[in-house]
Amino acid sequence: IVSGLIDRFDRQYVYLRLSITDVCNFRCNYCLPDGYQPPSQRQTFLRVDEIQRIVKTFASLGTEKVRITGGEPTLRKDFLEVVHSISQTAGIRQVALTTNGYRMARDVGLWQEAGITHLNVSIDSLDPRQFHLITGENKLASILTGIDRAFEIGYQKVKVNAVLMKQYTEKGLDDFLRWIKDRPIQMRFIELMETGEMDHFFKQQHLSGQQILARLQQEGWQLKPKAITDGPAKVLSHPDYQGEIGLIMPYEKHFCASCNRLRVSALGKLHLCLFGEEGIDIRDLLQSDEQQLQLEARLKSALQGKREHHYLHIGDSGVRNNLASIGG
Ligand code: GTP
Ligand code: 5AD
Ligand code: SF4
Repeated sequence: IVSGLIDRFDRQYVYLRLSITDVCNFRCNYCLPDGYQPPSQRQTFLRVDEIQRIVKTFASLGTEKVRITGGEPTLRKDFLEVVHSISQTAGIRQVALTTNGYRMARDVGLWQEAGITHLNVSIDSLDPRQFHLITGENKLASILTGIDRAFEIGYQKVKVNAVLMKQYTEKGLDDFLRWIKDRPIQMRFIELMETGEMDHFFKQQHLSGQQILARLQQEGWQLKPKAITDGPAKVLSHPDYQGEIGLIMPYEKHFCASCNRLRVSALGKLHLCLFGEEGIDIRDLLQSDEQQLQLEARLKSALQGKREHHYLHIGDSGVRNNLASIGG
């Protein structure tokens, strides 16, 4: 792949994570424990025409994959229209969705028709009580039905995200392993990342991915080799399992070396990293098709400011309040 978006460290960006709303209907304890709180000043999230211009411009610079994130993206009333407009853009081959799964059992067929090619679903525990404690919602059974439904209608593989937390994951790991034995699920364990509103929680609950990795390797799981365009996750497979395991360990030394993604928030800011910066406004260049070249130039020049690593290691500088507004 040849990308027009290359940074000073020779990393290529062919993958855009686009947040389309900040709103979420879950209250995950590590993210929005009190639920989504609308800001005092009214904000309008990116319109469909603005989204179209973003995606068209990124595609012209070599982007082939768009992941739709939020908040919970499917809460947008025009969600299907958004998906359709992204999937119809020339050059875009993958349109992925990160969702809490709330509407999946009912709507996954519609998502597929509109053009969603890949699904990532958050499930932090397979125990309904724990799931409720973590997310504030009693929705586990429905989300599991939604995943089965996705397989029935032809999705080959689904990725499931679980945030590693001392209190929940140590006990829950075996449930996940059993669950993926005969299902083509890539079960991803994500190391809890420190956020501003949650620093106390972080100290209590942070569980290192290395511990999980060591245990899995003892049980015969093997690391798969990485392709150059693969993102930062480490992927493991096992001869007895249909599913795979992905480990996302942002505190590891070389995590950012394989960074392949840029982010745009639902308010139209370009974010070069999940942490450590304020974002660069691009909304003023999304107002007419004639602005595309200007936007391309701004994206390329902004990218030159992308740092080699995130700044999580250096204490609290640049730590976000939560990840809901930028889709993780
Ligand atoms: P793929 O497109 O399938 O590779 O997805 P993904 O794992 O990047 O996406 P998903 O939206 O499922 O995110 C899973 C978790 O990984 C979230 O908690 C993200 O915050 C985290 N994550 C994804 N990309 C990055 C990154 O560049 N840096 C850090 N620190 N975390 C990331
Ligand atoms: N640390 C790690 N993962 C997080 N997510 C949200 N907040 C955090 C955090 N502080 C994850 C969600 C979801 C993904 C999009 O982001 O669990 O799977
Ligand atoms: Fe909502 Fe995702 Fe945050 Fe949970 S982690 S509250 S589902 S945005």
